[in-house]
Amino acid sequence: MWPRGLLVVVLLATLSTIHAEEACSNHGAIVDGKCVCNTPLPVDDSSGWVGDKCAIRVHRLTLEGKDVQETCEKGHICNVVTPTEPVCFSADITNLASSAFHLNLLLTSNELGADVVMQGLLTNFTFTPNPTTNTTVAVPQAYPNSDVPYSFATHTSQDSPGTQLKLSRRQLGYGVYTGLYLCVSTNATTSISLRAAEHACPFDLFSNGTLQLCSGRGSSTSCPNGMCTCPAPYTHPPNWVVTPGLGFEDCSTSLMQLQPSILLTVPELAPGGWVFYRVEVPESTGRELHLWAAAEEATKGSLVLYLRHQQLPGDAADQHDLASDSAISPFPSSWWQDQSAHLILRRSELVFQTGTWYLGVHNRGAGPVSFSVESALYDCPNNCSGRGICDATNGKCTCSEPTAPVSADCSIAIHELELNKEMVIEPRPFTFDELILRDVGDKLRVSGATRVKLNVSFTTTDPEPAGLPTWVNGRPVVFAAPSLEAALNRTAAGLDGGAHPLHPQGAVESIALYTHGVSYSMNIGPWTVGDDGSLRVVVWNPLSSPLRSMGYRLAALLQTECPGGCSGHGACNMTTGECACEAPYTGADCSVDPSTRVCTEGTNRSVRREGVRGLCWVPCREDGRSFDDESCDDLQCDGPGEGHGQLRRKGTEVECVEDLCIAGNYTVVDPSGDFLCTRRCACPPDGGACALEDACLPGTVQCLKGLRMAADGVNCVPAGTCEEGSLRRAYDLEGGATFSVCQCTAAGDPATCSFSAPNGVVSCLPGYERQGSTSTIKLADGTSIVVGGTCGRPRRRGVSGGMVFFYCLLSIFLAAGLVVGGKYGVLWYEQYRYGKSIFSQGHVSWPLLGFRTNAGSGTDDW
Ligand SMILES: *[C@@H]1O[C@H](CO)[C@@H](O)[C@H](O)[C@H]1NC(C)=O
Ligand SMILES: *[C@@H]1O[C@H](CO)[C@@H](O)[C@H](O)[C@H]1NC(C)=O
Ligand SMILES: *[C@@H]1O[C@H](CO)[C@@H](O)[C@H](O)[C@H]1NC(C)=O
Ligand SMILES: *[C@@H]1O[C@H](CO)[C@@H](O)[C@H](O)[C@H]1NC(C)=O
Ligand SMILES: *[C@@H]1O[C@H](CO)[C@@H](O)[C@H](O)[C@H]1NC(C)=O
Ligand SMILES: *[C@@H]1O[C@H](CO)[C@@H](O)[C@H](O)[C@H]1NC(C)=O
Ligand SMILES: *[C@@H]1O[C@H](CO)[C@@H](O)[C@H](O)[C@H]1NC(C)=O
Ligand SMILES: *[C@@H]1O[C@H](CO)[C@@H](O)[C@H](O)[C@H]1NC(C)=O
Ligand SMILES: *[C@@H]1O[C@H](CO)[C@@H](O)[C@H](O)[C@H]1NC(C)=O
Ligand SMILES: *[C@@H]1O[C@H](CO)[C@@H](O)[C@H](O)[C@H]1NC(C)=O
Repeated sequence: MWPRGLLVVVLLATLSTIHAEEACSNHGAIVDGKCVCNTPLPVDDSSGWVGDKCAIRVHRLTLEGKDVQETCEKGHICNVVTPTEPVCFSADITNLASSAFHLNLLLTSNELGADVVMQGLLTNFTFTPNPTTNTTVAVPQAYPNSDVPYSFATHTSQDSPGTQLKLSRRQLGYGVYTGLYLCVSTNATTSISLRAAEHACPFDLFSNGTLQLCSGRGSSTSCPNGMCTCPAPYTHPPNWVVTPGLGFEDCSTSLMQLQPSILLTVPELAPGGWVFYRVEVPESTGRELHLWAAAEEATKGSLVLYLRHQQLPGDAADQHDLASDSAISPFPSSWWQDQSAHLILRRSELVFQTGTWYLGVHNRGAGPVSFSVESALYDCPNNCSGRGICDATNGKCTCSEPTAPVSADCSIAIHELELNKEMVIEPRPFTFDELILRDVGDKLRVSGATRVKLNVSFTTTDPEPAGLPTWVNGRPVVFAAPSLEAALNRTAAGLDGGAHPLHPQGAVESIALYTHGVSYSMNIGPWTVGDDGSLRVVVWNPLSSPLRSMGYRLAALLQTECPGGCSGHGACNMTTGECACEAPYTGADCSVDPSTRVCTEGTNRSVRREGVRGLCWVPCREDGRSFDDESCDDLQCDGPGEGHGQLRRKGTEVECVEDLCIAGNYTVVDPSGDFLCTRRCACPPDGGACALEDACLPGTVQCLKGLRMAADGVNCVPAGTCEEGSLRRAYDLEGGATFSVCQCTAAGDPATCSFSAPNGVVSCLPGYERQGSTSTIKLADGTSIVVGGTCGRPRRRGVSGGMVFFYCLLSIFLAAGLVVGGKYGVLWYEQYRYGKSIFSQGHVSWPLLGFRTNAGSGTDDW
């Protein structure tokens, strides 16, 4: 197509110098130095012409879902756009003042590499009958050219070649505009499909031109106020303070009753979507309400639970009483561990009230989530963890099994562990188990054994052959400690800042069990035994999804070392710790050579060197008169000892190092508690000690405590008070209102954002236009918006105040990258839906993920 475009340009360039009329491409005349186009709208079988040079064709667009190629004037091609030839379409939107509430535009580009931009201009078409020709002539109040700002825009991109724009009557100016121009431009030649449709009900426009009303649900025969009459369970609650965007206007969100202990499953909750549940908390029974949701398969989504009394919750801080993703939640990273989210409402808490609560399950991630959700009402903490009898009168558990006194809910079961006897715990839900190996201090002393070896493996109820699905990140950890408190302290440290699984740190040792069914072992020194002579083994199960139970097998064995490793001249009996010496050596460590020579050629003896935590094995010199004590060809590093764990030789150097971790990737909560991330346990190539790197692996940071990822993709920052470029109504002025602008001092860092500037964006009501002195302020990302001015009656026909407002909106949207794939797109979307920022006159919606989900639902007129 480009040669034709080039031709037009060349032709235009040539002709314009010849004749003034031809400067307007023969479709207009020059008035006051500018072209006024003769036919800015299509007439009969001819297309119209708009633009600065009246060189852009305007085709007819009908609002019945048909492709433009079917509806434009006969003999014209409407669906080809080239970089030099943009195309416009015009539609009569009079119905938006009367019968229609919703207008959807569906644009698809057939060329993947093309970036197609569609801009909309709202204006008035005036229809006047011409009695002589017996026809009606339509005249637009304004038409696309560089003097007129567009009202909204959307674009396609490589990732989403299609975009659906859903506009409501409210966004389209409550019907004060009767005409719409859409202009499509591109950076590469492409053919497009463009469909538009209007309806009283909210709807989706499919690429085959079909309209699906009210999400395919509910009675679509009438939509009073542009809202669907949705069947249960898609109806909103009575007494609801209507909040647009939760999905009740188009029957896309359900509200169901959640009965205690009845599991409900939800298929594919789309990103940004909500599901709501009503939960009753009776006056008389129940001290604790437990709520959970757990994903059933791998997902890029991320569920957060919100709970609110009597009203539907939202994700803004003042729109819920409890949220699962909060720092005080007992499950701060449960979504990361096994993609489950939990909430507990306790009668003892300040927010507690009886009556109806609403649970909102919100998908805050990037992909759909299929999940199960359940509630339970307990009289005692955690219903005594299934290990006790609950006294409903006082809410106290009488534990029926030995449990740790620190667990009032009987949650920490105590098992007695015996040496050399494997303990088998069948899969069941639990968080901690305490296993006590009593009197092991004495046994170590009597037997001369130096270590206790723990042999442990785990299993789960998952049907997977691999044990755990790969998307479950959490892994059980076994701690050995002198006391339960010390072990729990370590677990808390693991959650809140410590870096597990590291080797001995103080007296607590731990090992993470990575692979289901694999037997892991851990050597524990006598310093881990408590003052009472007992060793506490604590098994921590971080998998909190009730869909998954964990069991384990654990055995404790005594390990004995022989003196001097039997000097290399004997076999060690690990049970007794005695050497069986080879002839002719004798002595407890087989180091005594009874022959006259000091040593025999080819034998070795061990020498402990100053500063080296290991034994150097040195050979007998050739003459047999002495050992070559200076050499250290063979270095045997010490096993775990006080202050250090198992040592390892550093390459070929005479040095023993202690690995602080096992090579691999570990997910660790930052000491600040702000985020968790995966860090690499790196083992230097020179054989040096393996250690956790300080830096997080790229892309693994997950923010905790309700923090948000900053634009740099690395730091977690407070959600901030507002999103850059968003507007908040500040005060009314004659003929309009002023909106303060959210400005950030650092680009993309919401913590630095605030609604500032008394000098805000001025938006005028229809019939007024912005006047007076304006100035430009720059947003942190470099874009600028115009502020200041007042609203006054127009001095001449021109751009209406409403359009000025739209223009401001457009500039802000473009400033914020608020287009498909824009980095703030999702945030803005949520912000729009939950009313964190309020645009008083109209919104522009935008597509989130191409066809998959839609933009802000367009409802209207409440
Ligand atoms: C004008 O159009 C109307 C309706 O289309 C028709 O009824 C009428 O006869 C026409 N008048 C003339 C003069 O053509
Ligand atoms: C469009 O025209 C109607 C009447 O024809 C008028 O009420 C309305 O204010 C006009 N809208 C604009 C934006 O000028
Ligand atoms: C059009 O723009 C998109 C996005 O900016 C770019 O990826 C693409 O390469 C461009 N195409 C051409 C032909 O310049
Ligand atoms: C149009 O597409 C939608 C969704 O893809 C489908 O449900 C519907 O049946 C199609 N309609 C026709 C007439 O093909
Ligand atoms: C609490 O536990 C008891 C027995 O452990 C069980 O019978 C009861 O059903 C549980 N209550 C709830 C609400 O799950
Ligand atoms: C550890 O336990 C596994 C199975 O539970 C067993 O196969 C293995 O021999 C045990 N290892 C030791 C050293 O006891
Ligand atoms: C556990 O941690 C608390 C505070 O962090 C500390 O006071 C206490 O001494 C610790 N207990 C043990 C047994 O280490
Ligand atoms: C270790 O010594 C004990 C006791 O003398 C004996 O019963 C056992 O067989 C010995 N083990 C080996 C491996 O020699
Ligand atoms: C002594 O050490 C050398 C070198 O480490 C080794 O090759 C040799 O086998 C050892 N001899 C004995 C008897 O252990
Ligand atoms: C650790 O993560 C990095 C980056 O994702 C990856 O390249 C590497 O293979 C991982 N290592 C292990 C042991 O999983």
